[in-house]
Amino acid sequence: MSALSPLWPAYLHHFRLDTPDPERLLSFYREALGMEDRTIGDDIWWLEGPARRMMIGKGAAETVPMAAYAVEDRARLSALRARLEENGQEIEPCPTPMLNGGAFAVRNPDGIVMAFGTPEADRSTGQGLPGRLQHIVFATTDTGPQRRFYEDVLGFIESDRVLDEAGEITAVFHRSDEEHHSYAAFRADAARFDHFALETGEWNDVRDWADRFAAMHVPLWWGPGRHGPGNNLFFMVRDPDGNRVEISAELELMPADMAYRTWPHEERTLNLWGQGWMRS
Ligand SMILES: [Fe+2]
Repeated sequence: MSALSPLWPAYLHHFRLDTPDPERLLSFYREALGMEDRTIGDDIWWLEGPARRMMIGKGAAETVPMAAYAVEDRARLSALRARLEENGQEIEPCPTPMLNGGAFAVRNPDGIVMAFGTPEADRSTGQGLPGRLQHIVFATTDTGPQRRFYEDVLGFIESDRVLDEAGEITAVFHRSDEEHHSYAAFRADAARFDHFALETGEWNDVRDWADRFAAMHVPLWWGPGRHGPGNNLFFMVRDPDGNRVEISAELELMPADMAYRTWPHEERTLNLWGQGWMRS
């Protein structure tokens, strides 16, 4: 275990989602995810609900410019920064006021800001079903640089990879604690935000979330199903901008020393129960 990056254990604390119409998205996330919001700057809002946090900013639609991860303590955060500096990474000021402890940021190969810090005390506000912010996923044109950045530079651990017939990686799942992935990348024709996920307790929570969206006349977009990698139950809906929100349960746990597995690039890998959403 001595080889573990000081990143370990870390979790997705919040992310920023941009939209040309903030009020429309604020209204959706208030009602759908039971979050409360407040302004924290010019055209930027902080939203918080039970174990889930995000920012909404005014900007280009379907764009996530930043994901913020909470590291266990200040000593690990300092060690992570030193590791990144030794690696030659350019350290940037932390763009979010919602992380403490000498928080800082680096950019991934597609320019997405990855912020690291110790968490503000988590307040559990808002009414809503259980759903802890758990992972975020991006599409990229080349999973190679992504995989090297998340593993070799940051020290995430690879849990699963999906290979096409040519042996090229079409999806890669990384963990920063024992939960199967807190970050993943899918190969696609362009780099873009893919989806974020809330982890619930169990299947009945998945049912209750689906009923909640049904009451709002928000149809399920994909699922329910069960992913191969992660083995989690899931469905997805789309917010008014088209961003995909995943509700998940029973995500697999993997100890740090467990080796990654490989899966074929086919629909069944993405949904053992049926149709898969193929990004490439
Ligand atoms: Fe997901």
